[in-house]
Amino acid sequence: MITDYPDLNCICIDAASWSYQIEVRHRRYILHRYFGPKMQRPAEIPFSRYLGKNYGSIHPDSEFPEFSYEAELLEYSSPGKGDYRIPAFLGSRNDGSPVFWFTYVSHRIVSGACEIPGLPSVYALPEDRAQTLELLCRDDSSGLEVTLCYTVLPEYDILLRWCRYTNNGSNPVFLHRAASICLDIDRSSYDLLTLQGAYARERIPARIPACRGITSFSSLRGISSHHQNPFLGVLAPETTEHSGMAMGLLLVYSGNHCFEIEVDAYGGMRIVGGMHDQSFSWKLIPGESLHTPQVIMTRCDDGMHGMSRRFHEIIRTRLCRGPWRDRPRPVLANSWEASYFRFTRDDIVSLAGEAADLGIELFVLDDGWFSGRNDDTSGLGDWKTDTDKLPGGLRSLSEAIHAKGLLMGIWVEPEMVSPGSRLLTEHPDWVLGSREQQRTTGRNQLILDLTREDVQDFLIGTIDRILSDADADYIKWDANRCFGEFSSAALHPDRQGEIAPRYILGLYRVISEVVSRHPDVLFEGCAGGGGRYDPGMLAWMPQYWTSDNTDALSRISIQYGTSIVYPPVTMGAHVSAVPNHQLGRSTSLSFRGHVAQSGNLGYELDLRKLSDAQKNEVRSQVAWYKQWRDVIQFGEFFRIASFTEGEEAAWMAASRDKKRALLFCFRRLAEVSQAPGLLRLPGLCPSTRYIERTTGITAWGEELISRGFPVSWKTGDCISCVYEFTACTEE
Ligand code: GLA
Repeated sequence: MITDYPDLNCICIDAASWSYQIEVRHRRYILHRYFGPKMQRPAEIPFSRYLGKNYGSIHPDSEFPEFSYEAELLEYSSPGKGDYRIPAFLGSRNDGSPVFWFTYVSHRIVSGACEIPGLPSVYALPEDRAQTLELLCRDDSSGLEVTLCYTVLPEYDILLRWCRYTNNGSNPVFLHRAASICLDIDRSSYDLLTLQGAYARERIPARIPACRGITSFSSLRGISSHHQNPFLGVLAPETTEHSGMAMGLLLVYSGNHCFEIEVDAYGGMRIVGGMHDQSFSWKLIPGESLHTPQVIMTRCDDGMHGMSRRFHEIIRTRLCRGPWRDRPRPVLANSWEASYFRFTRDDIVSLAGEAADLGIELFVLDDGWFSGRNDDTSGLGDWKTDTDKLPGGLRSLSEAIHAKGLLMGIWVEPEMVSPGSRLLTEHPDWVLGSREQQRTTGRNQLILDLTREDVQDFLIGTIDRILSDADADYIKWDANRCFGEFSSAALHPDRQGEIAPRYILGLYRVISEVVSRHPDVLFEGCAGGGGRYDPGMLAWMPQYWTSDNTDALSRISIQYGTSIVYPPVTMGAHVSAVPNHQLGRSTSLSFRGHVAQSGNLGYELDLRKLSDAQKNEVRSQVAWYKQWRDVIQFGEFFRIASFTEGEEAAWMAASRDKKRALLFCFRRLAEVSQAPGLLRLPGLCPSTRYIERTTGITAWGEELISRGFPVSWKTGDCISCVYEFTACTEE
């Protein structure tokens, strides 16, 4: 709920457990007053970041000569008037001057959440009682206005922030940085939590203390990247999984991004986050607006789990959309690691037959189904079915797959084109980069110029055609390279700085159009594994291929890290063959099964090569998963232990009513003389008595929560066990 206190110059934004307060001082300066545990009233004690004379400071305003930006916590900032911390805005006016002075003009409070033109965002339903505050500021000399937007979803404990720039002057202005958020905190003794990695090693948590100076976490790869997820956590040093302050900021964006954190001379901390300003410059002509991507923010005092729980809820129910949001996700078989580029129609039909026999529900034909695609050097862009491999075409294959009672899925990589393709011969300017310079390739491919509307329309038509040719129920949307050149033949020289954001706007236009034309198709995102696993993509595609690394042991760390922000229902997790194709490691089918059953279960191996005993094991994995799927996909997820602390990792999924819960335990290396220990199980109800099926143990929830449950390990490395808890009595 948002309340205006004009007498106290304060606007209070209140959620279930926190309050955020903004001060408008002298009807001119927009200052940050408070973000912390919920308060019933506005804060009143005057506060300045330093006391007494300070010859280091300058003063912007003769009317209020004592005022200095540097002494204040701010809601937004641009340089030139005495704030020396990292700015949220950089620009230049028509006369070349970089000086802008944004001061308060007005504000309004409206009900609901707002759509951000061209960009995905969290939505709200009437029962969410969402409200939005819009604070309008203006730089009088140029007429450039910025509206700082704040939407609260009180029950979700979520604050959404973004900005709208509008040129209400009479000359163009250039924006060189347009952050989505500027957040000042009056102290700096915090840890920073990020999700970092590399290809096939995505989203591994990294926690470091904030330190004096500027720290930045970013991606300049054109995609949100395997390397740095667009998430920043701020934790009190003592914060653990279930206690302590945890704040999270998550950018709803799939391109270049940056979070910068500055700890300055006065011990305060500033966070600025949004689109990366390298390879960014936007010419805003009079009358035009530019919107920044949205930041989803939350804070809590119940530790990292509290932060993750809030992110999981908002992503699962108010960012993901469409009929698949709440539908159980089908167990799938994917052809990639089963046959790569080399297969015949008979291979695919027989793989699908095996899949159907094992209880699998969806068969996905991955890469290699279109002409010229016998390896990754050619074929992208023309999207003509390879009728040597698939005589009768996609439709006839799809009929054969459907006839086995399976859904049919297909892989596409729409944004890319192979150098030798007909598409590129006909449209040499449809790719990023310039003809005068050699263009970079990645996985032997070029990137279509999605800043162009004709290319966007071409892609919308192409995907429409593939979907109807294949009569597909599912699409795996891949994007297998990082960007090189942010330059386009289609844009005027003084707009070349707009290519990185315009590409993402173009991509969002294509995806939103395709998704809205095909609401019943399930879309799974992919970018060389989890290279664009971000809230921007999840807004359209409710699940994502977590990583190309399908080794079960590596996957535990990857899925564990991913769960810091993203709910398990968004994670594609497949059982693959051993020795594993990425790492050469062999683990048991049961271990691989348990890891994959923790997300959206799939199989990605040649099912025909399994022995009868292995097929029976897969059959029972699939059957078991279907019994517990609602708990895993739509329940609450709890991290219990990770390999950073020892040889054991564990997590839990519990149904919303806490009547059913699963405990997944994984051990990496066996050790002698190891006490098995009691694992405390947070996801249960204290006053419910549970029975655990595999051991027959019965106990009250309070004991399982506070004292714990004994895990009994078999000998051997890479061992796993799953325990099933069901409520038997309630007090
Ligand atoms: C990427 C994906 C894989 C697979 C291949 C196909 O690497 O992440 O899952 O689809 O492309 O070329």
